[in-house]
Amino acid sequence: MTAKPDRLGGKYPAVRLRRLRRNEACRRLVRETAFHPDQLVMPYFVQEGPRCKEEIRSLPGQYRFSIDCLMEELDELTGSGVRAVLLFGIPDEGKKDESASAAWSSEGVVQKAVREIKRRFQDLLVITDVCLCAYTSHGHCGMVNDRGEISNDASLKILSDTALSHAEAGADIVAPSDMMDGRIQMIRKRLDGAGFENLPILSYSAKYASAFYGPFRDAVHSAPRPEFSSGNRRIPADRRSYQMDPANLREAMREIALDIDEGADIVMVKPAMAYLDVIREAARTFDVPLAAYAVSGEYAMIKAAAEKGIVDERQAVWETLTAFARAGARVLITYHAKQVSLWNSSTQRESVKRVTALR
Ligand code: PBG
Repeated sequence: MTAKPDRLGGKYPAVRLRRLRRNEACRRLVRETAFHPDQLVMPYFVQEGPRCKEEIRSLPGQYRFSIDCLMEELDELTGSGVRAVLLFGIPDEGKKDESASAAWSSEGVVQKAVREIKRRFQDLLVITDVCLCAYTSHGHCGMVNDRGEISNDASLKILSDTALSHAEAGADIVAPSDMMDGRIQMIRKRLDGAGFENLPILSYSAKYASAFYGPFRDAVHSAPRPEFSSGNRRIPADRRSYQMDPANLREAMREIALDIDEGADIVMVKPAMAYLDVIREAARTFDVPLAAYAVSGEYAMIKAAAEKGIVDERQAVWETLTAFARAGARVLITYHAKQVSLWNSSTQRESVKRVTALR
């Protein structure tokens, strides 16, 4: 803290900070940070085919939905008070190829899901993840060239095709998560050229090469394939040549500055829990809305610990989301969004209890 001693007030015994911690109503009265369900975004996985609702082994309580079963789920979600979703598509294995053609097809699973959501829900904000890793045969977020490298500029065209196809399907916000250089500029130009100049971009600006994406890659079968090679190409089986090094904070500020310059409307730090300093620094440095993404591994860790009785799930989730908001994040993307909103409304109902009858 940078507060001067005179701003911090007097000293004990005149000052007793415990006075304001005596009971729940008092603690709530002076609480410095709160978040509201309006800020929450719930991620969903949507797949082709007849399987309605398939639980994801490493993400207990999260599912791969078929399009029609997703509609039933969204009834529940909107009933809970959450107003925004982030969609990830899972194409059929047979539709993956080297140029990620299922990512930008108007008949792709995300494009179809968005059209269906827009037909059925008027005011639900639909954000789509724009990336290629679930659609490429090698599992990388961009094109691979004949030297076995992830080719930046060759990927931009396909990424902007993908973003445009989401816009045409009716997405409210597109969210590029690939980490290629220059993609925001390219996508912005492409959207503007097609009459979508008012469609916002939420950029995964400071996205780190993180171990905490493990369960997600299990969910969408998008891990980079170590066995993938063609001819004498050897392709790295990790994303460290495009996602950020976890050791870097200053570089994150450069990423965010570039994205804002290229037209990003909302910027994101991801993951969240291990990167609170990055969230804090971004919030202090930039005047654009900031999102924090509590990724699959963060969700899975809390779930696993709660299941073993090691932590209280509700308390742990509230504490981490409060920390993201305290650090400066406005938009909170979490697999706990629906649950948090349900918990929130049950607390509202039971706030103050009457102890005697009114007569
Ligand atoms: C696609 C993408 C990933 C996540 C969001 N978009 C996976 C990755 O980069 O490997 C991770 C989300 C999560 O772990 O919850 N590139």
